[in-house]
Amino acid sequence: MALAQPRLRPDNVDEVLKAMTLEEKATLLVGAAQAKVVNGVPTGEAPKVQGAAGATAEIERLGIPMTILADGPAGIRIEPIRPGDDKTYYATAFPVGTLLASSWDVDLVRKVTEAMGNEVLEYGADVLLAPGMNIHRNPLCGRNFEYFSEDPLLSGKIASAYVQGIQSNGVGVSIKHFAVNNQEQNREWGDSRVGERALREIYLKNFEICVRESNPWTVMSSYNKLNGIFTQQNYGLLTNILRHDWGFSGIVMTDWGCKVGTVDAVKAGNDLMEPGAPIEIQRIIDAVNSGEISTDELDRNVHNILQYIVKTPSFKGYKYSNAPDLKAHAEIARRAAANSMILLRNMDNTLPFKGSEKVALFGISSIDFVSGGTGSGDVNEEYTVNMEQALLGAGFSIDEELSQYYHRCYDKAHAQKDLVTGDDPVSKMIMWFNGSKIPEVELPEDCLGFLADRNDVALVVLGRNAGEGSDRKLRDDFELTSVESALLTRVSNAFRAVGKKVVVVLNIGGVIETASWKNRADAILLPWSPGQEGANAVTDVLLGKVNPSGKLPMTFPISYFDVPSATNFPYGKEVNETPNPWAPKKVRENIDYTDYDEGIYVGYRHYTTNNIEVSYPFGYGMSYTTFEYSKPMVKVAAEGITATITVTNTGSVAGREAVQLYVSAPAGGLDKPKMELRSFAKTALLAPGESQSLSMNFTPYDLASFNEASNAFETASGAYTAFFAASADDIREKAAFKIAKASSYPVWTDSSK
Ligand code: BGC
Repeated sequence: MALAQPRLRPDNVDEVLKAMTLEEKATLLVGAAQAKVVNGVPTGEAPKVQGAAGATAEIERLGIPMTILADGPAGIRIEPIRPGDDKTYYATAFPVGTLLASSWDVDLVRKVTEAMGNEVLEYGADVLLAPGMNIHRNPLCGRNFEYFSEDPLLSGKIASAYVQGIQSNGVGVSIKHFAVNNQEQNREWGDSRVGERALREIYLKNFEICVRESNPWTVMSSYNKLNGIFTQQNYGLLTNILRHDWGFSGIVMTDWGCKVGTVDAVKAGNDLMEPGAPIEIQRIIDAVNSGEISTDELDRNVHNILQYIVKTPSFKGYKYSNAPDLKAHAEIARRAAANSMILLRNMDNTLPFKGSEKVALFGISSIDFVSGGTGSGDVNEEYTVNMEQALLGAGFSIDEELSQYYHRCYDKAHAQKDLVTGDDPVSKMIMWFNGSKIPEVELPEDCLGFLADRNDVALVVLGRNAGEGSDRKLRDDFELTSVESALLTRVSNAFRAVGKKVVVVLNIGGVIETASWKNRADAILLPWSPGQEGANAVTDVLLGKVNPSGKLPMTFPISYFDVPSATNFPYGKEVNETPNPWAPKKVRENIDYTDYDEGIYVGYRHYTTNNIEVSYPFGYGMSYTTFEYSKPMVKVAAEGITATITVTNTGSVAGREAVQLYVSAPAGGLDKPKMELRSFAKTALLAPGESQSLSMNFTPYDLASFNEASNAFETASGAYTAFFAASADDIREKAAFKIAKASSYPVWTDSSK
């Protein structure tokens, strides 16, 4: 009998599903290589989007096209140079996730990702594998730069705006890495052991907000285990929580590794195996034939994938241009970076500069500027403006002799790097994972005196790079290297001795130690890794063309050992052996498993509750102007709770202020942190003397904590206090409010699994 041959349309998904053979279904559940293969033989045809990380399988017979998945999150990651093709395919390197979150501005994030999503569409991809949104549990996680915050509300709201911006282009996202993937060390096999309350309130809450508010097309399950079960094979996580509790209706795909538990993944509700291997197709076929995977389970996942496919540009036959407006996007990237970076210190109004200063520009990172991190989050941009180019472009004069010195060091370091790397693919891969940051160089003896005499100001750029595959180190990374420390001391002593200022620019991807050296600087600006136009954005802020309004999305502790997870993290540990999951296990703490003993006390929840002094608190950031808060009010109504505050610009230049609303709960119920972020809002650009009333909305559910005993989120009745704050350590106004009736929000439980 001839096989039924319907062609896929948005309205005949069920009919197509019915017409599919078991082989076709299993094929669709497993990612495919982009290079076309006919009867097992590669056709030699060029892949549609070179450098894209993955694809879904094409089934020509039923009109099911291949769809393309490409990395983010700081822009689409594709191959810019293609054999036999004169055209280039560069993408815009936008600010990294941490800088976007530092804006505390969901509209800004949406504008950035509208542009980013346009590049996804115009380069022929269907899904951007982004945003990365794991919680900053520990400052040493190598991928924190891709992620947003230590706080789930800020992370969830920024992620929602990110997803809305990308998906407004008719392409999808894959929010990742779901879930509790907070370290890179042994990321493929490590077990994150977290209590149910911390899981629900901290590590899943941001994903919950994002799923409920922005309807992402896809979710990427992480590599790690969660409480003993790989997340990709975790029915409780992928089906009970994600689909039943939160109403997710898209597809779940694995992170990029072929695990042995394909059958468990299918059953758990992990629809797509990426990047896909033929053995996975066979495992699915065998398990369906043996009854281990039921037809319902198989069809449920295939149905999800078909529903996804009919939304994609590939399915709709979108004629992509391969020519997005990179110039316009570079401008968006620059504006976003300038409006998100954080002014940490500004003694005696050191900044802004007048523009006529002669600058002594220190630090190898002034040339070797870092636009983004390494690994899959690294964008292939056409250029990255460095600090020297940006300053010169803005009309500053810089000390030429000093510049030549750094150029010589840079060229030498590059020559050595090329020697090590050569063209050997293994070395290249190591470089890809580990990054290629040139370490800080020593300055010649006795040069500081005359540099201080003949220049007006010192600008020191300190740089760091990190990324996928490894965590950062405590020594020489979280802490300054001895060369960096000496540089700061010498520059500071020399310039201050002749009454000149020292400004430090932190071109970093994650938190570093600042308490021991910040007094050596008169001003400190934190642009993180700000994308290809980031150095221009720094210059905009140095000149006061943009008044800084970013605030920290995480805490800068005084010492690494103040971090609540400090000893439950593989700091300084090296794994020299490749973990072998089949070998009898030697179980290594913080490598094979990590205990999340700090529970919900992550970041400022820990520092504020336990009165621990920090170097810079969560939510902190300065401006060139000042703001006054007044008229605090909280109204509780049937539809929800509204907190309002009036913010007035009391300084002499225009500026924006991000207001944070922390809430403390009545005593007597579940143990609670001193206060928790429940909402935030940012003013428009306020002229001197101008005021704006900001409204911040939330619901009783947003105040809830998870009660493990009743398996429900619960909001206690009683007296609450709302704190209107400029940072977690700077409460400006407060208002009391009452919740008359306690509420309970039970979560989905499924005793059959
Ligand atoms: C990373 C993901 C990425 C994927 C595809 C994995 O190693 O963890 O974030 O999307 O590779 O490149």
